[in-house]
Amino acid sequence: PAARSGVRSDAQVLVASNRGPVSYTLGEDGSLDARRGGGGLVSGLSAVDDKLWVCAALGAGDREAVRRGVAEQGVRMLDIDAEVHADAYNGIANSVLWFVHHMLYQTPLEPVFDAEFRRQWASFETYNQAFAEALAEEAGQGAAVLVQDYHLALVPGMLRELRPDLRIGHFSHTPWAPVDYFRLLPDDIAEQLLHGILGADRAAFLTRRWADAFIGCCTQILGGTGRTRIGVHGLGADADFLRRRAHEADVAERMAALREQTGPGRRTIVRVDRTELSKNIVRGLLAYRALLDERPEWRERVVHVAFAYPSRQDLAVYRDYTAEVQRVADEINAEYGTPGWTPVVLHVKDDFARSLAAYRLADVALVNPIRDGMNLVAKEIPVVSDHGCALVLSREAGAYEELGSDAVVVNPYDVSATAAALHEALTMADDERAARTERLAAAAVALPPQQWFLDQLDALRRD
Ligand code: G6P
Repeated sequence: PAARSGVRSDAQVLVASNRGPVSYTLGEDGSLDARRGGGGLVSGLSAVDDKLWVCAALGAGDREAVRRGVAEQGVRMLDIDAEVHADAYNGIANSVLWFVHHMLYQTPLEPVFDAEFRRQWASFETYNQAFAEALAEEAGQGAAVLVQDYHLALVPGMLRELRPDLRIGHFSHTPWAPVDYFRLLPDDIAEQLLHGILGADRAAFLTRRWADAFIGCCTQILGGTGRTRIGVHGLGADADFLRRRAHEADVAERMAALREQTGPGRRTIVRVDRTELSKNIVRGLLAYRALLDERPEWRERVVHVAFAYPSRQDLAVYRDYTAEVQRVADEINAEYGTPGWTPVVLHVKDDFARSLAAYRLADVALVNPIRDGMNLVAKEIPVVSDHGCALVLSREAGAYEELGSDAVVVNPYDVSATAAALHEALTMADDERAARTERLAAAAVALPPQQWFLDQLDALRRD
């Protein structure tokens, strides 16, 4: 699958990830529309020259772009067989590895390790091998290769076999599961995953906690981390970009529209997430319902603005979760709504300008994931907030390590405590809220994306 005509790039910095920086949609008239993505890696990499990004073609548009050779400068998309990709991405990466690292299995949502799993695992290996081969083909002598996330956990080991001259890094954007949970994976698979990452010179994580969990797995399952160094790089918010973007005209328009929807003078509790089980959106809604139920003084005076953008809709468990979010929001509106007040304003169509508008308006930000590698929303809101925003934050988000002392901290499973935290956040005195927001913003921008990426590159090249 990695076969390719043309010259190899000989790049000195290579990044590999399942989802790349650009995606294509195929119009009915056969036109191809390119859409550039955002995120820490995209801004991080913008500081680097002589680079190549290797990613997978994710849909029909991407595949057509590869077929037509409409290569974006500095990007190589791998047209991996669609079934192999579906097994690897939907089957293994998002149904098994994501669930293990976020500890999302609970009866009746149980892991199944049967013949079908083994078949999908073989696809996962094929998919990782395709990346390793493409990277081996493209990398210049002694180049630095930064492999991203659980999708590509086997790549470092495979790449080392092919190109021992390279400096290989692996970065996990997710939490890492504690050893007792990680061990629910079949023994040989657990070992293969750890060996895969330990093929890197350096394995890095978003927080100390995830790094320690990884070390714990390696120590107990393999007896140690071998020659691989372990790093921690806590990605921060991109303040310059966010502050500029949040003051463009389209954001102002959306603020006006949101104010119209929430009604004048009402407080807002804002959340912005992919619709993702780990984000714990339903318990957030239940906590809001408990607030309205137990503290009737908030009725008509507050609106929960919830943006839940569709994610991984090929998977039934995500589709069901999306439906449940909608159902619970509808229930709350039916139960408490009045002619002039809609308690929950739920938007599901991804709109970055509207997210920024909500960030600026928010009185309270609700970030209550069950587990989260970092959670950038928690960092972005204080940075762009217009008048200060109280942050209700799960202690299980990576961001808690940096923001915990100025947030109202919750156990994400505890709906009653989350309701109480929302009340505390809503009643926080103005000066207290402003002071905390300032400290949160300062902590949030400590390691902006470009620095985050350059630090990793330096550390990889240095030792
Ligand atoms: C998490 C993962 C990323 C992934 C993103 C979106 O942040 O760490 O690797 O790209 O979720 O998920 P998706 O499956 O849509 O790429």
